[in-house]
Amino acid sequence: MTAAAEVLATDLAGIALRNPVLLAAGTCGTLDEMSDVLDLSRIGGVVSKSITPLPREGNPTWRILPARAGMLNAIGLANPGIDAFESHYLPRAEKMPCAVICSVAGFGIEDYVQVAAVLDEWNGRGVAAIELNISCPNVKTGTEFGMSPALTGEVVRAVRPVVKGAALFIKLSPVAPELPVIARAAIEAGVDALTISNTIPAMAIDVHTRTPRLANVTGGLSGPALHPVAVRLVHEVYRKIARDAGVPIIGAGGVMRWEDAAEFVLAGATAVQIGAALFADPRAPLAVVRGLEKWARVQGCASIRELVGAVKID
Ligand SMILES: Cc1cc2nc3c(=O)[nH]c(=O)nc-3n(C[C@H](O)[C@H](O)[C@H](O)COP(=O)(O)O)c2cc1C
Repeated sequence: MTAAAEVLATDLAGIALRNPVLLAAGTCGTLDEMSDVLDLSRIGGVVSKSITPLPREGNPTWRILPARAGMLNAIGLANPGIDAFESHYLPRAEKMPCAVICSVAGFGIEDYVQVAAVLDEWNGRGVAAIELNISCPNVKTGTEFGMSPALTGEVVRAVRPVVKGAALFIKLSPVAPELPVIARAAIEAGVDALTISNTIPAMAIDVHTRTPRLANVTGGLSGPALHPVAVRLVHEVYRKIARDAGVPIIGAGGVMRWEDAAEFVLAGATAVQIGAALFADPRAPLAVVRGLEKWARVQGCASIRELVGAVKID
């Protein structure tokens, strides 16, 4: 029988992963804080909080709310800024027992270039990949780049030359018009992987006070409600562009149980990210790993890679 390690081991844009289960940006602390409650040597990797050039306090509270089928957040990219991230967090990256992917956010192209250049210097010292967040709905202009193929291409073309060692991922929005067209622009500009997707812009109202429940008025919806939307997007982008381009997809959105992760794999994802589920159960990724392993075996596969994009459609 194939060993567990072999069944789930995979390759994500040249990065060897123990298994395809990653923690999603912004849902697991700034970098390695989840190690207090979750054995990181049992998952594939962690995506850091999105880092900007300067520190950010983020939006005022309330900035997290439960929703009936998930949660709303309007954190507003609270993060320590690249200088503090580099001095206080990155020195620990190399010792983390899983792949480390660092997320970058910005308000202009130069922000992405500046932060990505610093992070790339840590490639070989723990940072395996850089994920460009061009799809944050919780700050002004946070989704601007992700809504336009031209701007998506522009930001990737600007960042690509400074990312010399790390793999370059880009995180797309579930509400971008024609996501395959945006994905194509990102691929043509040189990304190594696509993360699909970020949250859906959403809103909740307190009917008694007649006021928005989030201080930011709107926020991003994640969790189970997002899942089928993201599965459809992964499927579409995989079939229309990513499969032939040989560019892997990371599915994100409502992975609560292993079946959700398996759906992403069948739709065309090489790996998955888990976010909202961590708020309910920080050890949820371990159950997802166990379930995927069993599933791959029951499907008769020596490697989960055989199941990527393997949904049967006549
Ligand atoms: C509290 C919170 C903070 C988030 N912060 C970020 C962030 O900094 N950067 C980013 O790219 N995505 C961020 N996201 C989006 C998640 O990484 C993920 O794409 C999204 O929540 C969908 O996955 P899920 O349904 O498993 O949560 C955040 C999500 C939540 C719930």
